Amino acid sequence: MIAAADRLIMSIFAANAGKRNNRRAHMSAVSRDWLNALPKVELHLHLEGTLEPALMFDLARRNNIQLPFDSVDQIRKAYEFSDLQDFLDIYYQGAKVLQVEQDFYDLVWAYLNKCQQQNVIHVEPFFDPQTHTDRGIPFATVINGILRALQDGEAQLGITSQLIMCFLRHLSEQAAFDTLAQAEPYLDRIVGIGLDSAEQGHPPEKFSRVFAKARDLGLLTVAHAGEEGPAEYVWTAINDLKVARVDHGVRSIDDPKLIAHLVETRIPLTVCPLSNTRLRVFGDMSQHNILRMLEAGVCVTVNSDDPAYFGGYMTENFETLARSLDMTKEQAKQLVLNAIEASFADDTRKQAMRDLLDTRSGN
Ligand code: ADE
Ligand code: ZN
Repeated sequence: MIAAADRLIMSIFAANAGKRNNRRAHMSAVSRDWLNALPKVELHLHLEGTLEPALMFDLARRNNIQLPFDSVDQIRKAYEFSDLQDFLDIYYQGAKVLQVEQDFYDLVWAYLNKCQQQNVIHVEPFFDPQTHTDRGIPFATVINGILRALQDGEAQLGITSQLIMCFLRHLSEQAAFDTLAQAEPYLDRIVGIGLDSAEQGHPPEKFSRVFAKARDLGLLTVAHAGEEGPAEYVWTAINDLKVARVDHGVRSIDDPKLIAHLVETRIPLTVCPLSNTRLRVFGDMSQHNILRMLEAGVCVTVNSDDPAYFGGYMTENFETLARSLDMTKEQAKQLVLNAIEASFADDTRKQAMRDLLDTRSGN
């Protein structure tokens, strides 16, 4: 399904190929160590998607919950997904082990430690309150555990963060309004709202009114769009929900006018390479369009989405681009610069991150 925009981008890409090959001939291969040491920024990460099988077992034991798996190995074998819905069924099931505030703290603390190991210096994670409140867990239990870990992450690990609350799009508009009302006491600690879960059949405009209310409350907006759903959903996320970033957005390539709009406006796409292949948005990493969009001038960024389910955190997502798409160091740095530009950090923090990238990304 290669559309006109893809052909346009491929022609830009081909025109630059000579330059790139020349450049590559003078460059060393991009190693895992170099990518791991590169300061990185994560803008598309579901905290519930960082639940590693080992922690899932620990929490199940702690909370007396029976899992439908006998071992970590068995869990890993179940992580063969045919599409987004197939993944979501397992992901919502796994989240049931999260019961008390300390569970949410432990989940987020483990993720932040992984960030430190991989030199991720700033994160803007999502949480899905409805996944928990619908099972009777109070909103306060969820958010207090998350916020406490994020605060400790900044104080003890130097990792800055901005928290984003997502609405589940398979649920109703009213349910999203109720969730927004529950969040009101915490709005000074939530930077924005997002939209996730099953995309097909749940277009962004289903949530136009609740997103308008959130904007009135001073929140920024993002939304998953163009992951499995069509490029049209990216347009409505931009026009109806007024998003500051589009999560995934890889199907934008089907619409040349949309690509031109993204290039002109620099509305960022938070792309998740390993997620896209594990959920079969692309058959193989060699078919992924992230570097083609980068070369065309789209503000694309690299992220891990649900790393415990998709086989890798930030370093592994960069690594797969180096292995499968021949990503250069220059491209890796540009992808991080794009993430800094796209982040909701203030200008002082953005400049500090650019400075760190400059000093730490030498050959
Ligand atoms: N929730 C967690 N991961 C998701 C994804 N990749 N798409 C939509 N909703 C999600
Ligand atoms: Zn996502």
